[in-house]
Amino acid sequence: MLLFQGELGSGKTVLAQGVGEGLAVREPVKSSSFVLVNEYHGRLTVQHADLYRLEEAAQVFDLGLEEIAAPGVLIVEWPERAWDELPPEHLLIRIVEAGDGRTLTLEAKGSRYEELIEQLQRRSRQVAKA
Ligand SMILES: Nc1ncnc2c1ncn2[C@@H]1O[C@H](COP(=O)(O)OP(=O)(O)OP(=O)(O)O)[C@@H](O)[C@H]1O
Ligand SMILES: [Mg+2]
Repeated sequence: MLLFQGELGSGKTVLAQGVGEGLAVREPVKSSSFVLVNEYHGRLTVQHADLYRLEEAAQVFDLGLEEIAAPGVLIVEWPERAWDELPPEHLLIRIVEAGDGRTLTLEAKGSRYEELIEQLQRRSRQVAKA
């Protein structure tokens, strides 16, 4: 479960599109006005939940997010709409505008996501060396 936190227009959906592209999803990941969760199929199933319009945090239970996350990747925009209801194990990515670009801060909760960050660090050291 990936949680994308950032102000309006900070780039959460664009980052979700990048994840979709990386997983060979053919259509762009988008938020829709009426559905809170959209599903895409690439190398893995990608589910994109935009909680911006969530009226109350408890509504998140109706979405069954933990269940649908199991076979693929679940991305949640606006997790702060339902902090306490979201699974405690996740990767939180905070996005802040920085000039023309963005600064991302990654925070892992739970061993699975800690390992993911370690892999990313190893990978970026390898790229830096190459
Ligand atoms: N990494 C980036 N570098 C530069 N510009 C970006 C980046 N990511 C997004 N943008 C710009 O910010 C705009 C808004 O991005 P996006 O729709 O992804 O924001 P959002 O956080 O999903 O907004 P909302 O809170 O409304 O859902 C994009 O149209 C794009 O022009
Ligand atoms: Mg968005």
